[in-house]
Amino acid sequence: MPIQDWKDAAHAAGWDAQGDKTNPTRQEQLDILLSVMADAYQPGKWTLDLGFGSGLVEKMIFDRIPQANVVGVDSSREMMALAAERLTPYVERYQAVEHDLAQIESLILPEHPYQFAISIQALHHLTPDEMQTAYRFIYSVLEPGGLFLLVDRMRVETPGLWSAVQSVWARQDRVYESMIKDREGANFAEHEQIVRGRGDLPMGPEQHLSWMRDAGFEAAILHLHGNRALIAGRKLS
Ligand SMILES: C[S@@+](CC[C@H](N)C(=O)[O-])C[C@H]1O[C@@H](n2cnc3c(N)ncnc32)[C@H](O)[C@@H]1O
Repeated sequence: MPIQDWKDAAHAAGWDAQGDKTNPTRQEQLDILLSVMADAYQPGKWTLDLGFGSGLVEKMIFDRIPQANVVGVDSSREMMALAAERLTPYVERYQAVEHDLAQIESLILPEHPYQFAISIQALHHLTPDEMQTAYRFIYSVLEPGGLFLLVDRMRVETPGLWSAVQSVWARQDRVYESMIKDREGANFAEHEQIVRGRGDLPMGPEQHLSWMRDAGFEAAILHLHGNRALIAGRKLS
């Protein structure tokens, strides 16, 4: 698979139309994320979404949490244009900021009380240094008690368990009619090549937990299925 070019209009439209089919865990993890947010959302508070893309998640947030407002950051005008179209009915509830998350330290956000920061299937595009900088930035932006929710692809880092991971994907293909197993490579080495070729730099869940804790968060995995995780970090004070 060629490198993903989010600034290519055809790639953006293609992902928007069928991204879910390559990740059947997405809907369940998003439902958990929305449940956590809905149970705690305080009126007047804002959510920061890093890599908000075409606004698929914002539509779900606005439909489910009437008091939610979102600042979405992305570097792809093509994805942001799809978001603007999708979110027309909610125009007063979100603000869009164009910025490269690889340079998150220079990101200037609208001033709001940020109760939540979320990032869905986006931060795996960052290098390890950029990811750690992003975690420190997120920690600094959140208000005390705020919650960071990461939904993302995890690195498969255990060659000895490759056949078991393949069985998880094969089962998902059977249950959800997804198309994962064949897309992820015939063996561990080919898998790593495919991931790199797509421009993805996923890290393992333990690495994420460690970096979140280094940034100051209390961190835990809320859901993990194969190589897809929902990880939460609380800014205690
Ligand atoms: C797979 S899409 C996910 C979009 C959205 N979060 C969702 O789940 O529906 C990944 C998004 O991350 C954005 N992205 C990737 N690298 C980025 C970077 N360095 N800075 C800002 N956005 C980035 C892309 O433009 C794209 O919109």
